[in-house]
Amino acid sequence: MKNRFYITTPIYYVNDKPHIGHAYTTVAADVLVRYNRIFGREAFFLTGTDEHGQKLQDTATSRGIPPKEYCDEIVTRFLDTWKRLNISYDDFIRTTQQRHIEVVLHILGKLYDEGEIYKSSYEGWYCKYEERFWTEKDLADGNCPDCGRPVSRISEDNYFFKMSKYQDWLIDYIESNPNFIRPEHRKNEILGYLKKKLGDLCISRPKSRLSWGIGLPFDRDYVCYVWFDALINYISAIGYLSDENKFNKWWPNAVHLIGKDILTTHAVYWPIMLKAMGIPMPKTIFAHGWWLKDDTKMSKSLGNVVNPLDLAELYGVDAFRYFLMREMTMGQDSSYSEQSFVSRYNSDLANDFGNLISRLTKMISSYENGKLPKVSEMESQDKEIKQKSIELQKKVKSLVDEFKINSAIEEILQLIRMLNRYIEKNRPWDLYKSENRERLGTILYTASEGLKSAARLLYPIMPGKIEEFSKIFNSQIEELISERAADWGWLLPGMEVKPGKALFPRIDVSKISKQLTKATPEERKTAEFIDLSDFAKLKFRVAKILSAEAIAGADKLLKLQIDLGSEKRQIVAGIAEHYTPEDLIGKSIIVLTNLKPAKIRGVESNGMLLAAKNKGEMVLLTADGDISPGSKIS
Ligand code: MSP
Repeated sequence: MKNRFYITTPIYYVNDKPHIGHAYTTVAADVLVRYNRIFGREAFFLTGTDEHGQKLQDTATSRGIPPKEYCDEIVTRFLDTWKRLNISYDDFIRTTQQRHIEVVLHILGKLYDEGEIYKSSYEGWYCKYEERFWTEKDLADGNCPDCGRPVSRISEDNYFFKMSKYQDWLIDYIESNPNFIRPEHRKNEILGYLKKKLGDLCISRPKSRLSWGIGLPFDRDYVCYVWFDALINYISAIGYLSDENKFNKWWPNAVHLIGKDILTTHAVYWPIMLKAMGIPMPKTIFAHGWWLKDDTKMSKSLGNVVNPLDLAELYGVDAFRYFLMREMTMGQDSSYSEQSFVSRYNSDLANDFGNLISRLTKMISSYENGKLPKVSEMESQDKEIKQKSIELQKKVKSLVDEFKINSAIEEILQLIRMLNRYIEKNRPWDLYKSENRERLGTILYTASEGLKSAARLLYPIMPGKIEEFSKIFNSQIEELISERAADWGWLLPGMEVKPGKALFPRIDVSKISKQLTKATPEERKTAEFIDLSDFAKLKFRVAKILSAEAIAGADKLLKLQIDLGSEKRQIVAGIAEHYTPEDLIGKSIIVLTNLKPAKIRGVESNGMLLAAKNKGEMVLLTADGDISPGSKIS
């Protein structure tokens, strides 16, 4: 059991593009799984998407397409991002897949038959966005305490899972299994939460309100609450009820990596669900902190959401992965800023690591004809490098097992810095001049072995760059990450060494800062492509102009009454210099109908017509042919 590792990420909602926060959890899981593999463990990595619920239904409805079709389209953004970020997942689960739905139905049926689920009427405050009920005292100024949106009073019959009866068991379990909820302060947070009396969990939503979900097997008028459905992915994906061997192989080793925002669902609901089903607990639930942008919370409305693909594009995937892992102490919040990214890159990767690779390989190339020299007698300083490199393997392993990825990186960098100092101190260029070949060989070999040890341990963080590195030492990446390669002496004298182009060219801060200042979030937004869902937000329709009149005191404006089929509206348009009111009547124009209403020169305008402009000329966009007012434009 010790030699297996099963890691999961949260399954992400498909109503949004992946951002730096999603990327962080997924890259961290990828790094952990790659480390476990190079430590010789069997490992399994699961990620996926959460595809049911109100938000999904609402977005799909607003776009006028069935929810499943919408999910199929959006899930590709996640798949593409993970491909770009070199995420080596073993399985990708979608909660709309049959293999998942079957398990959820079975669990619901079983818990219902065993009396763990009961029906009761409920009255409370419901936040449609967060899809959950709140009591009066939970509310923050009358609004949802989580998202701040308005809540509505709802009174209805629902199904409840008897969560409360497991409260004492859960407290006891958490207290007697100190590694169950990590880090420590999150465990204490949950124990604090459990001091209040735990209620039962409402696990249904009436179909009259929400139809996009898994139907309850015992009442066709309801669907399952999205969280109750989603959490089950962690077992449905690894063969619960369908492949016992697979399930038993992975489940006892499960580590759920999550963000701190979803701790309660994972550390309270999920263990109790498992307990009620008679399934053992996962090994660990680890909640990491929050990425901020320049110390502020990221949000769409502030326009400061960091897009992982932009960064990977600008600096390379591996540099981005490195930054994420190096900068955040897992468990605490961290702030992203372009300046910190560039200085981290330049100091650690370009100066320390990149420089060591290029100076060492160039020296082997010019002093040793591109062949790794052999070691003669080792002095104490050489032995010290050897010792450090051997110890590093163990140190990194124990730090990674403690989820301390950033400390592991720091240890690796210490060896790299030590190697740079070793070269400076021993001045191989002088040894070459004085023809001290034996000492020169020993130093170049020792530094190369040390470098190999460090580079190998950076593979989980930067798989692409380390693959390039393996080619410099004429090896395949599979060989470099094999367990044998961790041993001192793996590099063989006589082996070919081929310096290539710099792996981490220095970023010119002055150039980048120009690019970066140019790329403010606002400008990035404009420069970015939009996708169909953005376009779908704009509701264009054909409208027929019924009447038009000038507006007193506004030479450029006309007030138009338009027919949109199901309604008549008034809009104001800046076309008076190009059209007379008479020209306009009867024309079929194109109108953006869902633009926020505004008053222009005191006149109400409910929409905007489209016109083409060029050097002072302007013509209206009109519909070609006979088409009824109100026709949709898509
Ligand atoms: N669908 C649920 C999870 C169900 S798991 C059974 C969900 N999805 S989500 O799309 O909202 O993703 C939430 C996760 O994204 C967080 O838990 C965290 O892992 C990651 N992050 C989102 N924003 C983040 C930051 N700003 N910083 C770090 N990670 C954050 O919740």
